[in-house]
Amino acid sequence: AVNMKGKSLIEINDLSLEEIYQIFDLSATLKQDRLIGKKHHVLEGKKLGMIFSKPSTRTRVSFEVGIYELGGIGLYFNQNDLQLKKSESVSDTAKVLSRYLDGIMIRTFEHQDVIDLAKYGSIPVINGLTDLHHPCQVLTDLFTILEKKRKLQGLKLAYIGDGNNMAHSLLHGCSKVGMDISIASPSGYKPLDFVVEESMKNAKYMGSKIEILENPIEAVKNADIIYTDVWASMGQEKEAEERKKKFIKYQVNPELVKHAKEDYLFMHCLPAHRGDEVVDEVADSANSVIFDEAENRLHVQKAIMALVL
Ligand code: CP
Ligand code: NVA
Repeated sequence: AVNMKGKSLIEINDLSLEEIYQIFDLSATLKQDRLIGKKHHVLEGKKLGMIFSKPSTRTRVSFEVGIYELGGIGLYFNQNDLQLKKSESVSDTAKVLSRYLDGIMIRTFEHQDVIDLAKYGSIPVINGLTDLHHPCQVLTDLFTILEKKRKLQGLKLAYIGDGNNMAHSLLHGCSKVGMDISIASPSGYKPLDFVVEESMKNAKYMGSKIEILENPIEAVKNADIIYTDVWASMGQEKEAEERKKKFIKYQVNPELVKHAKEDYLFMHCLPAHRGDEVVDEVADSANSVIFDEAENRLHVQKAIMALVL
């Protein structure tokens, strides 16, 4: 086992392959034990601060339930509760919170703020989504794929849509574990070059492939997993109408999924904008694992907290 105590999780590239599989092993154990009612109060008395500058259903509830089930307590702060970035810097906030808490989970806009929180504080920081990355979601996605397909290496994931935080973390995640990833996005909405380059290094090491494409049919060809996300992310609400026009050909519908393998999995981090990036016939089909994926946030994040706190 690798000792991960004190470690922050800011992006998937912070983790070694061994650490990733350690998280998956513990997630599976915690999931199984929860089913039979076996408790693990390994974080007895630990306090997790949970800072949210954006709304959340899954992340908030799964972290709060998760820390509670491990014997600890979660303290929730929204945008307006803290002095953070209003009358107090990230670095002073990090130093103060480190005197009270055992760990921080944060969802915010600027990725740099999460990096700084970890840098200036002395407790582990877990990224619960920034504009750049969503590592807890993608670790959960990979765990879910592993559960369903019994392997990761050699599978192909097609991501259709915006080159956003999900696309970035999927690039890191898939390339880390040796999965092929094909991303199809309209021009102007591709994933950032530097994230693609970081992922190319992983892929080269693992012998897997990365494709950044414009044509969704080409991306989906022979895919084991089809993944999509909203066209306008939190903070981009004003662009929603304009994006709707540009992304219209990027809808995951029965016509598009025909090009994937017959036993493909449909995945979505949720919330889904049904009728936009995906239609009911796909989201509610036998291929869809969206609610298992949502449930697994709880098990995987419990594993992460148990390992780092
Ligand atoms: N997938 C996800 O992070 O959902 P929430 O925005 O509801 O937390
Ligand atoms: N890309 C989406 C993901 C939500 C979980 C957003 O950032 O709003």
